[in-house]
Amino acid sequence: MEKLDTTMTEATSEPAEAVPPGTIVNRSGRRILKVKMVDETDPFLLAGYKLAQYSDYDKLEKLGEGTYGVVSKVRHRPSKQIVAFKKVKLEMEEEGVPATTIREIALLKALVHKHIVRLYEFIMHNKNLYLVFEFVQMDMQQYLQLKQPIDAAIVKRMSYQLTSGIHFCHSRGVLHRDLKPQNLLVNNEGDLKIADFGLGRDHGVPMSMLTHEVVTLWYRCPEILFGTNVYGTGVDIWAIGCIVAELHIYRALFRGDSEIDQLFQIFQVFGTPTSASWPGIEDLQDHCKRFPVWKCKNLRKVVPTATSACADFIRRCLIMDPQRRFCGWQALQHPYFKDVHTGHTVCPKAFEFEDHEPMYQCMDEPG
Ligand SMILES: Nc1ncnc2c1ncn2[C@@H]1O[C@H](COP(=O)(O)OP(=O)(O)OP(=O)(O)O)[C@@H](O)[C@H]1O
Ligand SMILES: [Mg+2]
Repeated sequence: MEKLDTTMTEATSEPAEAVPPGTIVNRSGRRILKVKMVDETDPFLLAGYKLAQYSDYDKLEKLGEGTYGVVSKVRHRPSKQIVAFKKVKLEMEEEGVPATTIREIALLKALVHKHIVRLYEFIMHNKNLYLVFEFVQMDMQQYLQLKQPIDAAIVKRMSYQLTSGIHFCHSRGVLHRDLKPQNLLVNNEGDLKIADFGLGRDHGVPMSMLTHEVVTLWYRCPEILFGTNVYGTGVDIWAIGCIVAELHIYRALFRGDSEIDQLFQIFQVFGTPTSASWPGIEDLQDHCKRFPVWKCKNLRKVVPTATSACADFIRRCLIMDPQRRFCGWQALQHPYFKDVHTGHTVCPKAFEFEDHEPMYQCMDEPG
């Protein structure tokens, strides 16, 4: 993987229009990010093409629009390759390139993995920043809206790909923090790619005082709903549990319209947590001793098409106490994935594990 050079540098005299590829400058021309452009694994560079020329792209269609800009399908004329452009409107920003974008670029350039959308390049043009991503045919939200029955083997494969991509991020100190179907892309072969690291951040140091409003409510874990400022990889594992369930039931598992409604929907499935099931819960900011008491349900009543191994996997991702929730490595080891058919997407070497005796007995489900 390429080495990043993200050091802040002294002010340069280069005007904004003459910014070399791979560089971000702020309004006064100060260079604030420089990423090495030589990447031996970049298929475009290997084919001898440089992507960093704005005028080489033709816009084909708009794919999506979010907080920071528009995503479009474009053609790189010289190579005829289709790629996705994420335009970031810099003129709206008081201080030039938004910090989240700088973070997204630095993170993504370093996260080269089969199940993470590939960032090839970035270009500054007319005070806009364009991120050049590999193009992926649809997002998981659109895929679910096709309302075609999804084969259990495909659900398992996508779940595995999602888990392996997230484990890769976590093992490199990166949390995604906004996993949801709209941020997961699915290509024509049914392979999943994790996208939109706009809100991701390095969780190496410090891991405290991270912002509250980072995970979309429906996929938000209980510790954040309870107001904690200190959280870790469990935020993404929780979202994985929600998404795997959604792949079975074709709608979000918990669809709260407020933080408290979201928590209560979770309690109605997993039971109201107590200091026995979640030691330390009483110390959390928004915990209340007088929450209504719900009993734990059998998850297979909520996700009826899940096999018992799959229901066990979901349940372990959705353990309310983050200390007891799965980590990515454990999740990949779960018996649910024992016979995962990865098809042409062979499990990458980094995730070949030694043969273990089965680590899990399925958790007891209430009747
Ligand atoms: N590489 C891509 N290929 C095809 N479609 C994409 C690609 N990246 C994004 N999209 C589409 O565009 C939509 C928005 O993209 P993305 O999630 O990256 O931006 P966003 O939601 O605007 O970001 P933010 O959360 O930072 O506001 C996605 O939900 C997806 O439908
Ligand atoms: Mg998004």
